[in-house]
Amino acid sequence: MADATPQHTDTESVNAGVGATALLVAAARAIETHRHDSLAQDAYAEHFVRAARGCAHWPVRVEQAPDGDDNPLWGRFARYFGLRTRVLDDFVLRSVDASARQVVLLGAGLDTRAFRLDLPTDCVVFEIDRAGVLAFKQQVLEDLSAAPKAKRVPVPADLRADWVGALTTAGFDAGAPSVWLAEGLLFYLPGPAETYLVDTVDGLTCPGSALAFEAKLEKDLLAYQDSAIYTATRDQIGIDLLHLFDKGPRPDSAGDLTAKGWSTAMYTPFDFTRRHGRGPLPAPNDALEGNRWVFARKGVDVRLLEADRCHQ
Ligand SMILES: C[S@@+](CC[C@H](N)C(=O)[O-])C[C@H]1O[C@@H](n2cnc3c(N)ncnc32)[C@H](O)[C@@H]1O
Repeated sequence: MADATPQHTDTESVNAGVGATALLVAAARAIETHRHDSLAQDAYAEHFVRAARGCAHWPVRVEQAPDGDDNPLWGRFARYFGLRTRVLDDFVLRSVDASARQVVLLGAGLDTRAFRLDLPTDCVVFEIDRAGVLAFKQQVLEDLSAAPKAKRVPVPADLRADWVGALTTAGFDAGAPSVWLAEGLLFYLPGPAETYLVDTVDGLTCPGSALAFEAKLEKDLLAYQDSAIYTATRDQIGIDLLHLFDKGPRPDSAGDLTAKGWSTAMYTPFDFTRRHGRGPLPAPNDALEGNRWVFARKGVDVRLLEADRCHQ
């Protein structure tokens, strides 16, 4: 399966560069969907994989992967994405149940929460990603005649530049509560772009709003360069995650939000594996060891904070 991902030069597309990571997560969600003990269901995920140039031979069920569940990419790493999907699904639903009627997906990729989740019909889902990724997604969803459960607004923008204008022009209302996700995104952005993103989310949110994001704590990303999930991803599908990650210093975004008055809680993925009774557990030389999932809420609602800790 080496070289499954074409390496053409259109870096905005879903077929190359960081855009291809959206396909990797979609394949993982397809595999999760077909598991007998699935943590999240995404009926659209395998259609993205099958529609993409060069991915026709990627597995969409774990039985199709060489070595099945023992395959570091399509077994353990895919399960990680399945768990992450479920945990952030629950975070969005809790926030919407409380008051949020705007969901903003930063680096939305092939996320189908607008179609999958039981969102109120007056909810709006803004999907920010690069134009090429969103165009591919739109085409696949149109071919499937997929109908979103809430209003869905794709917002083509580069999150390394000023993206606020694009979001507000698309109809985002900073005066109403919102819930934001940065799922599998921040480590691809330069540190200053992450700081700008966090400052911007703070500036565009009112009390009752929430943000969940994924971060990597390790100071030296290369400390885990031989981790099985990195080498399997590079060798089996030609995606070199270490090459795609930004290597510059990372800001302390959880600390920055706390300083701005948000309430934050930081979890390891393994916390949720234990709560759900399935998912990845710690392993030697593990690139997941430094991954953290951060939940932040503005205008503390103690009830919701408790639910973040206990609900899953
Ligand atoms: C690993 S994927 C995650 C996608 C989605 N959040 C999910 O979990 O399925 C990373 C996504 O971030 C997007 N992305 C990375 N850098 C970006 C940037 N500078 N501007 C906009 N989107 C970006 C990529 O195009 C890709 O869709």
